[in-house]
Amino acid sequence: MKVYEFDSLPSTNDFADSLPSGSEDIYIIAKRQTDGHGTKGRSFLSAEGGLYLTKLSFPENLPASAAFLIMASTAMAVVKTLEEFSLAPKIKWPNDILVNGKKICGILIKNTLSGEKVSRSMVGIGLNIFNEFPEELSSIAINMAEAGGKNLSFSAVKNALVSALQKEYSLEEYERYLCVLGKKVFLLEGEEKKEVFAQSLTEDGRLKVNENGEVRLVSAGEVSLRLLKEVPDEGKEIL
Ligand code: BTN
Repeated sequence: MKVYEFDSLPSTNDFADSLPSGSEDIYIIAKRQTDGHGTKGRSFLSAEGGLYLTKLSFPENLPASAAFLIMASTAMAVVKTLEEFSLAPKIKWPNDILVNGKKICGILIKNTLSGEKVSRSMVGIGLNIFNEFPEELSSIAINMAEAGGKNLSFSAVKNALVSALQKEYSLEEYERYLCVLGKKVFLLEGEEKKEVFAQSLTEDGRLKVNENGEVRLVSAGEVSLRLLKEVPDEGKEIL
């Protein structure tokens, strides 16, 4: 594998985008980003104190239908990393990582297909270690230090994450950490917000939900999911 490390980059994803395809995995790591990208075209705050990493890989035989495994495996690598620092993470489907109900890590994946196979996969991870957020985000975002992580340092977290990203994790393991199954959640579909019951996960990573008695499958790219706060404020949107 090849590792590029920077103090600062506009975006580790953009740097990865500029690299040609090859065979070995490539890791691009930065201590801060000046133009970080989040999901749904949003920007991603990337202050010093966080870990910003992109893993570029070139799968040889991964059917497009199994692409969700990349998402599940990445989320699990972050989960295992957080556990190494004594934290107890949960996964908000499909790939937000939460600690104490607040977001500690965001993941952005871009896969390139050749025919029916994934030929190039770019996995971007923004993990909050010590970085601070603006006041308005303090109720929904948290960093590892604030969450009570033990023995934290940038390099210890970086090494743990790079090593976890070299392992493979199953969909069953991923499912065990999901915090949405068996719960009422909101689905945002365009302008519409619907309350549904999240029943289970399908083998290809879709969520089976029950909306007023009607069961349907939703894909990660189609909707945004919001959790509901449980008692005493049931029904209140929290994340
Ligand atoms: C999200 O919106 O939750 C996903 C955020 C993904 C951010 C990471 S940080 C490293 C990589 N480089 C980027 O510009 N974005 C991803």
